Amino acid sequence: MLQQAEILESVLERYPSKPEYLIFMLQDIQADCGYIAPESMEIICEHANVPITQGYSVATFYQSFRLEPQGEHEIKVCLGTACHLKGGERLVENLERKLDIHRGETTEDMMFTLNTVNCLGACAMAPVAVVDDEYISSTTPAKLDKSLKAAQQQ
Ligand code: FES
Repeated sequence: MLQQAEILESVLERYPSKPEYLIFMLQDIQADCGYIAPESMEIICEHANVPITQGYSVATFYQSFRLEPQGEHEIKVCLGTACHLKGGERLVENLERKLDIHRGETTEDMMFTLNTVNCLGACAMAPVAVVDDEYISSTTPAKLDKSLKAAQQQ
């Protein structure tokens, strides 16, 4: 697997040094590395001729950008209104205890990243969680346990 520095080099070669290419460069790094390391952010902003604060404001505005390395599997628990009313918050707290991390963090073994989202567009199935690409409807801690075990065995 290529290191972030090599990937970065190939990304910079693809785009002119102009601010309008900032987001494309960030997307490419994110796609190839799974996250944007601080060194990459600095070099990309320099290449795009924008202040580093602009790079971070773009990366924090769009939820799809990650500024930390991500776990092999992503768990998303919905905390939108329908899911919140049906126990979404308890599911998150349960996962935080079980995985010994807080929301937004990754387990020490880099296996799982726990994120919360506002609505997954599947409110009728509330509470909803997603493990990688698998939607879990009417989620319970037991259903989540089963999905995490299955993900670990992949
Ligand atoms: S509120 Fe959870 S899917 Fe819509």
